[in-house]
Amino acid sequence: MTHTGNTKTVAKAIQQQTGADIYQLETQEHYPTSYQKMLKVARAEQNNDARPVLAGKLPNLKNYRTIFIGYPIWLDKNPMAINTFLSHYSSFKGKTIIPFTTSGSSGLGSSVPELKKNAKDARFNKGLAITDDQLDDTNQIVKKWVKNNKF
Ligand SMILES: Cc1cc2nc3c(=O)[nH]c(=O)nc-3n(C[C@H](O)[C@H](O)[C@H](O)COP(=O)(O)O)c2cc1C
Repeated sequence: MTHTGNTKTVAKAIQQQTGADIYQLETQEHYPTSYQKMLKVARAEQNNDARPVLAGKLPNLKNYRTIFIGYPIWLDKNPMAINTFLSHYSSFKGKTIIPFTTSGSSGLGSSVPELKKNAKDARFNKGLAITDDQLDDTNQIVKKWVKNNKF
């Protein structure tokens, strides 16, 4: 998932270097472009433990064992739409989720425990966090990460 395109940049680098398939998560409702308005929406979604409705048909994960899930950090957490996505699937048994994020500075923040609560039976591997000031080096960072983890 991406709002301003940063996470998409990282997702594409991961796709290029692992040969993964890619799917872009989008919410049915479009989020505001103004940062201040977006902050309000994100805060309200978190406070209400919302599950924003996703657009389109969600992918069948049957044939995938490793799933990279990318999103921007919003208020130290994942966007609530990621919880909608994860709770759509009844079980991630036998599958490994690898989170990746972009953020101003927070890193993965407190998003991973949130993901774990919503992805039943999933195994998690250590994720990747890229800050906005590192985005120019995305390809190199991802290359090293993929190599070190043997994805
Ligand atoms: C509503 C909102 C909340 C954010 N909260 C945080 C935060 O808590 N910590 C942080 O480091 N960056 C935060 N950011 C910055 C974004 O995580 C960062 O710019 C990210 O790269 C955006 O990714 P995207 O282009 O894929 O949407 C926030 C941005 C928005 C719009």
